[in-house]
Amino acid sequence: MSDWQKAGWRSKPRVQMPDYTDADALATVEARLSSYPPLVFAGEARRLKRELGAAARGDAFLLQGGDCAESFAEFSADNIRDTFKVMLQMAMVLTFGAKVPVVKVGRMAGQFAKPRSAPTEMKNGVELPSYRGDIVNELDFTVDARTPNPDKMLRAYTQAAATLNLLRAFSTGGFADIHRVHSWTLGFAEGGDAERYRDMANRIQDTIDFMAAAGLTAETNHELSQVEFYTSHEALLLEYEEALTRVDSTSGKWLAGSGHMIWIGDRTRQPDGAHVEFASGVQNPIGLKCGPTTTAEDLKILMAKLNPTNEDGRLTLIARFGAGSVGDHLPRLVKAVKEEGANVLWSCDPMHGNTIKSSTGYKTRPFESVLREVREFFQVHGAENTVPGGVHFEMTGQDVTECTGGVRAVSDEDLSDRYHTACDPRLNASQALELAFLVAEELSARRANAVTAAVG
Ligand code: PEP
Ligand code: CO
Repeated sequence: MSDWQKAGWRSKPRVQMPDYTDADALATVEARLSSYPPLVFAGEARRLKRELGAAARGDAFLLQGGDCAESFAEFSADNIRDTFKVMLQMAMVLTFGAKVPVVKVGRMAGQFAKPRSAPTEMKNGVELPSYRGDIVNELDFTVDARTPNPDKMLRAYTQAAATLNLLRAFSTGGFADIHRVHSWTLGFAEGGDAERYRDMANRIQDTIDFMAAAGLTAETNHELSQVEFYTSHEALLLEYEEALTRVDSTSGKWLAGSGHMIWIGDRTRQPDGAHVEFASGVQNPIGLKCGPTTTAEDLKILMAKLNPTNEDGRLTLIARFGAGSVGDHLPRLVKAVKEEGANVLWSCDPMHGNTIKSSTGYKTRPFESVLREVREFFQVHGAENTVPGGVHFEMTGQDVTECTGGVRAVSDEDLSDRYHTACDPRLNASQALELAFLVAEELSARRANAVTAAVG
């Protein structure tokens, strides 16, 4: 084992982390969290890594999604169920449409801490610390609410544990049974894609009936009655991450016990910084956001630090450049990966490069730009002959109006109707489903091209 230490990040430059003013209160919380059970088990993280390795080769596809930021106020069984349900629907569209197994990873059960564009916010001449997610402080613009409070980490842990518990129950307790494919149709998902989805569900039902007649049932095949569902979040608040990091007794390696997969954000990927140092030493699958400012040189250094043994499934590169810019940036990074002979899984985050301010003042994302970035991602990989292995997005099962466009056309004026996010605008269920159909089409086209190339 290397000499990596879970507290090693403390001697590196850190960005985007709160300044806790009460050191004793912080130490008390850290000690308490360190004594609590981890949320995930190392064997699960290893299994996810194997599945991500398959996605990197094109033998599976990664579907990663959920809230921009989980919140204490929106914590409820219905919210968790609805997000889970949309993920299942999207996975079904991809599995059935593109004939590829889908690795399902929620931005859930730990996605609380947020990087911000400025450390403070100014309102009417008053300057206060920025809101950094419910695990750090509160959205209200008062001194009290904005002061980072370490106790919030304990509440986040409890919420993450309860969320994960429900997700595990949904995954294996019958809710995700493929025979219920029709009942996953959300009540409000009417219109274009809801019909396409129902049509697909009918065809799946036919297949299930056929298989049952041939003797393949859920009793004999767990694949039909259960799903694997993994959790992930940005490992931003390193005091929380360190406190939940444990040595796995089977392998003797460190594991971030806060979730199955963790990622490094676009603002915290400094090669010599605290966040990279922390992620480099835990065995979990690691995601790395790559933005317009990621250079080929930095990427090479980061790949060497984060995956020195070039392990399959260890590193997912999450491209987030913005519609119209993928062709300007992705090729140089794909080339860097080729030059290093690095094993990586390429995933596309079509959300974070496409945030704009609407004419009505809301932060939004035009759904057209989201779709366009996905198409560009597939085009570049087609031209480079590399594998587009996954997608990463912000969505909710709730019928929100946060991103404009989609079949049920949300306009700038509609944004105020049901704009619930405390952070970035999310796709609603119907937009998420539409996106899944697009990705399935891109994947099947790619497969058809590959077949033609092999035959021709
Ligand atoms: C996020 O995923 O919520 C996020 C802040 O992304 P990025 O680091 O890519 O900006
Ligand atoms: Co976000």
